[in-house]
Amino acid sequence: MAGNKTLAIIKPGAVRNKHIGHILSKIEENGYTIAAIKTIQLRLEDAAEFYAVHQGKPFYQELIEFMSSGPIIAMVLLKDNAVEDFRALIGATDPEKAAEGTIRRMFATSKTANAIHGSDSDENAERESSFFFSRQEWLRKTQVGLD
Ligand code: CMP
Repeated sequence: MAGNKTLAIIKPGAVRNKHIGHILSKIEENGYTIAAIKTIQLRLEDAAEFYAVHQGKPFYQELIEFMSSGPIIAMVLLKDNAVEDFRALIGATDPEKAAEGTIRRMFATSKTANAIHGSDSDENAERESSFFFSRQEWLRKTQVGLD
């Protein structure tokens, strides 16, 4: 059965361009509960660790430099079928290929500065949530009736 959790990041470009509010509205309008949220700036080595799976790819260095270039918003989002539905909501990696109405189509400026990240599997949703939040940080919030 598909999991009910995904990890999302509003990327530095979208934060700099003041799109946080629009993106959070879109997420909530689409049925997600924001169970945990924080503003944080990654160091280069943090971004390298988060995106280690892409190490060696041509876009890796640009990606980790960009992801550590300014504040980001990290979030644990809850909803049935969270991973798959969220990837549909954000759209294709390349904003030119992203469908109309998707978050990347609206707010991304390039493949690297593509506004938002969403986990690509339930297993990565767990790993990525633990990267940014302690288990208590999002469990406690869901237990007090946000859900
Ligand atoms: P994200 O969902 O954060 O996961 C990996 C990121 O790598 C992706 O979004 C893009 O920002 C970036 N990425 C993936 N493929 C490419 C590519 N072909 N060129 C540039 N950046 C890419």
